[in-house]
Amino acid sequence: MIIYNERERVFKLDTPNTTYMIGIVDEENFVGHIYYGRRLREADASCLMRTEEPPFVPSKNNRERCSFYDCFPFEYPANGLGDYREGCLGVRTAAGHVGCLLSYRSHEIIKGKPALEGLPATFGTEEACTTLKLVCEDNYAGMQVELLYTVFHDTDVITRSVKVINTGSDALFLTKVYSACIDMDNRDFDMVSLHGSWARERHIQRKPIGYGIQNVSSFRGESSHQDHPFLALVDKNTTQENGEIYAMNFVYSGNFRAQAEVSQFDSVRMTMGIHPENFCWKLESGESFQAPEVVMVYTDKGFDAMTGIFHRLYRKHLIRGEYRNKKRPILINNWEATYFAFDTEKLLSIAKEASKLGIEMLVMDDGWFGKRNFDDCALGDWTVNEDKLKGGLKYLVDEVNKLGLKFGIWFEPEMISPDSDLYRAHPDWALAIPGRPGTESRQQFVLDLSRQEIVDAIYGQVAAVLRSANIEYVKWDMNRQLSDIGSCGLPADRQGEIYHRYVLAVYQMQDRLTKEFPHLLLENCSGGGARFDPGMLYYSPQIWCSDDTDAIERLAIQEGTALIYPLSTMGAHVSDCPNHALGRVTPFETRGIVALAGTFGYELDVTKIPQEDREMIPDQVAMYHKYNDLVREGDYYRIASYAQNHRYDCWQVVDAERDEALVTFVQVLNRVNFKSMRILLKGLDENKHYNVVFVNDEGIEPKVYSGDTLMKAGLLIPYWKGDFKARLIDLRAVQD
Ligand code: DGJ
Repeated sequence: MIIYNERERVFKLDTPNTTYMIGIVDEENFVGHIYYGRRLREADASCLMRTEEPPFVPSKNNRERCSFYDCFPFEYPANGLGDYREGCLGVRTAAGHVGCLLSYRSHEIIKGKPALEGLPATFGTEEACTTLKLVCEDNYAGMQVELLYTVFHDTDVITRSVKVINTGSDALFLTKVYSACIDMDNRDFDMVSLHGSWARERHIQRKPIGYGIQNVSSFRGESSHQDHPFLALVDKNTTQENGEIYAMNFVYSGNFRAQAEVSQFDSVRMTMGIHPENFCWKLESGESFQAPEVVMVYTDKGFDAMTGIFHRLYRKHLIRGEYRNKKRPILINNWEATYFAFDTEKLLSIAKEASKLGIEMLVMDDGWFGKRNFDDCALGDWTVNEDKLKGGLKYLVDEVNKLGLKFGIWFEPEMISPDSDLYRAHPDWALAIPGRPGTESRQQFVLDLSRQEIVDAIYGQVAAVLRSANIEYVKWDMNRQLSDIGSCGLPADRQGEIYHRYVLAVYQMQDRLTKEFPHLLLENCSGGGARFDPGMLYYSPQIWCSDDTDAIERLAIQEGTALIYPLSTMGAHVSDCPNHALGRVTPFETRGIVALAGTFGYELDVTKIPQEDREMIPDQVAMYHKYNDLVREGDYYRIASYAQNHRYDCWQVVDAERDEALVTFVQVLNRVNFKSMRILLKGLDENKHYNVVFVNDEGIEPKVYSGDTLMKAGLLIPYWKGDFKARLIDLRAVQD
């Protein structure tokens, strides 16, 4: 619900349990942030803007206007006029001047949620959400800024985005347009972010914030392995189950910056938006720029609650398409099985064995096109290599289909190899700074997707392959980050638009793909999990989590990913041992149990693995079919974190009715001479009784406990010998 109290000049935005308040202040209509937190009954908290204390508002104390600017909690701070904290908006006029400041002009309260042109965003019906469009202006710079806020009625989410319109007669240059800001009192917050590297994505990091600026960011052209477009400010005492959290997640797949700046007066300005580095967007008179969306979540009930809110929002209001609520086919991908050394015969031998074991789809990974037998060539030449795939692609797909398996294929559409027919024909199609040698990474360049003719040509090639056979899945990969940001398709004063135009082009291509092939299951990927973000989830219901498929390494990666994203989105496979990334050996059973917490599939040569491992596959497949509805749609709870305790990991999923639950316990390192482990379950119905079955340990007798006991007194996991072992525990409500 959104109301405007005209007398107080206050907007009150309510979700079921939270309130967000904005105030219009003084004769000049400054727009201030009043409050965000637990739901308030009334709109009477304007005092929090502290306009009744020095330096007062400019109409009462104009000699200290600068001080007012520097401490007022601006709803959307601009820059250059006396607020010395970092602003959200940077504008340079045609004359080269940079100051700007916004004042309220008008507003509109709209049922539902308008789409953002060209950008992914959460969506909702008129019953599900309400939107406030707050129109602000800076008449000196000649621009209007629309601040959009959508409140969801069924969940504690407020989304934000910003549109800048040039209302003047000369061009404007936008040097920064963040999407969200909360200017509030600091409460000795910690900041929580997701940090990583290739094969080590999204590890949870928590640290105290101090005076000044601290941020997480990427200007690698994608959301990145290294940092993630997520930031939470949390109370020092916040735990899984309790405490305040202010979280922001960016629905965007390119450069970003998420920041907390603690001021001299102990206020904190939390911001998120497109990274301003190398960003400059030229806005001609009458043109507008739409910044991407930020999802904001507030809760005072700890990380479990925050996670639940994000999961439900993304499942219901972000992910689209046929597979959004559907079980995904169990796939076998040939990457770790063969790398580039495969042909039709090899793939069919894998498919044949896989079909006997209950696997449902074969995915042909990198190396099927042009003359690509290693990662040093042919990106851009999306024609089938018939030396490898004798009889052609359609023959292979038909044969795989005859075995009862679906067929999927890998592409890396955004790239071009210097050694490719495409590059020889169009050397200017790579991003490059004229006169400067290009920077190779994995021996490839990035295509200049700011040029529509390149987007069309590549899309045409990809679509032609997909039209040529019964292909039901695409893995869309991106194996290097952007550099050499130059385009010969844009004039000098638009080179600063390349990064963002690139992201828009990726969205455009995926939009076309999902419209032309509505039954296709799309899985995004970027050298593992470097582009796992809500922007990509708008197009693909699942994303490859990491190139690290080791079951133990995956614990921290999947824990960090699941902090925000539903388990249904996390690409997870069982791979061979010793693990190719790490060299570790773990039991096949544990690999299966850890992969069950994601989309589930295999990444190994099923014709070559040990017989006892192969024999376990039908049981794992059965397990997937039994539990996937629960894993995909259930509420996820974190019970214990190996990343924190260095010994064991535990999570749980519970269905909406609280009739069924599945607990996964991974004993990473055993302790000698020790006792059973006690875990406190979550999300159960305290009034119900549950039959507790240790699925993969028949030696432990099933037993009935009350939900109340399981959550308060806990469940004992019997001591068992060995490292890297996992147990699945099935709970089902029984009639009392
Ligand atoms: C990176 C991906 O994450 C891998 O799974 C594989 O597809 C390779 N790229 C292929 O080049």
